[in-house]
Amino acid sequence: MRRVYLDNNATTRLDAEVLDVMMPYLQESYGNPSSLHWLGDEAAKALAESRERVARTLNCYSSEVYFTSGGTESDNIAITGCALSGKDRKRIITSAVEHSAVLDTCYALQERGWELTVLPVDRGGLVNPHDLEMVIDDDVLLVSIMTANNVIGTIQPIEELAAIAHEHGAIFHTDAVQGYCHIPIDVQAMDVDMLSVSAHKIHGPKGVGALYVRDGTPLSPIMYGGGQEGGIRPSTENVPGIVGLGKAAELAYENMGDRERRIALLRDRIIDGLLEVEGIHLNGHRSPRLANNAHFRIDGVIGTDLVLALSDRGIAASTASACSASSPSPSHVLMAIGLTWEQAESSLRLGLSHHTTSEDVDYVLEMIPSTVRMLREAKRFNLSKA
Ligand SMILES: Cc1ncc(COP(=O)(O)O)c(C=O)c1O
Repeated sequence: MRRVYLDNNATTRLDAEVLDVMMPYLQESYGNPSSLHWLGDEAAKALAESRERVARTLNCYSSEVYFTSGGTESDNIAITGCALSGKDRKRIITSAVEHSAVLDTCYALQERGWELTVLPVDRGGLVNPHDLEMVIDDDVLLVSIMTANNVIGTIQPIEELAAIAHEHGAIFHTDAVQGYCHIPIDVQAMDVDMLSVSAHKIHGPKGVGALYVRDGTPLSPIMYGGGQEGGIRPSTENVPGIVGLGKAAELAYENMGDRERRIALLRDRIIDGLLEVEGIHLNGHRSPRLANNAHFRIDGVIGTDLVLALSDRGIAASTASACSASSPSPSHVLMAIGLTWEQAESSLRLGLSHHTTSEDVDYVLEMIPSTVRMLREAKRFNLSKA
């Protein structure tokens, strides 16, 4: 049976070149970067080189890049670290479609006394800058709005949102885990103060990420230990992982234009093909949207049933985010764009990568309509009465 991996918004396959550069740091160059001897030096040099590589992809100084254990930790450090930084402002603004690494961190701070405003989005998942203008004031400490959505791929107008935050003296953080190396990210042009990225969404290893923190941004540590990463993220550095992140970022950044153009063509074939099937609808705007994301709601079908049936046919897909896959309630992102519970439950996310082929798309366009038909028939679902 053909196997097609279309869950690249959840995670991606490690690129062979990335594995090659990681291997020596797992076996021969296994030193602790803080050690003074030659083996420590090798590890310290590898860290410095990766920091340079990541900095180049973000257009920042390498001293502004802090390595973390992933996107979740980057978001937690940015938001909680900023909240604890001692400024007397006690208000945070975020959006209803953020990843739980941002939303739940904000809710936890709300329980500890911070005031929280959650901005709504339109039916395609876009935050309207005017809505931010309406609620922001000079009491806001932090605005955190994601660069691109992990469920429906919507790309937010970050430059405009950051400018509004700055007019009111607030700090601006963006979770760029899904956008990084898929769309151009330039922290100077976007004028953001903090930005989170993760390696495993760009064909790097799992368990490693980075946080960009503009020099001078107030940030307190949320963990204490040996003082690594400027004290912002203590713990012995994951050298092989960080080397993998640096290489994956460099490769994805250098090939971004070609890769994303090709992926967008395949993605558009999937969207156009599936929209021809009665009762299949696209969630999210067609543009601005990540090239690697297609998200549908399918009348008369439960998303998890479809994902399992597709898995039996060799297709790896998802309904929404990987972290919410085991939750009984539908994705908060789908509820935020105004879907009913039933509509949100009938969803399918297809995430592509540069490993996706035209033959994969042919297979998917053959299998999904027939699988949907089979599931509808099993439920005796009548489209004309939907
Ligand atoms: C938008 C977004 N933020 C944060 C994360 C968490 O990243 P990590 O898995 O590296 O902790 C993810 C991963 O799904 C994501 O899509």
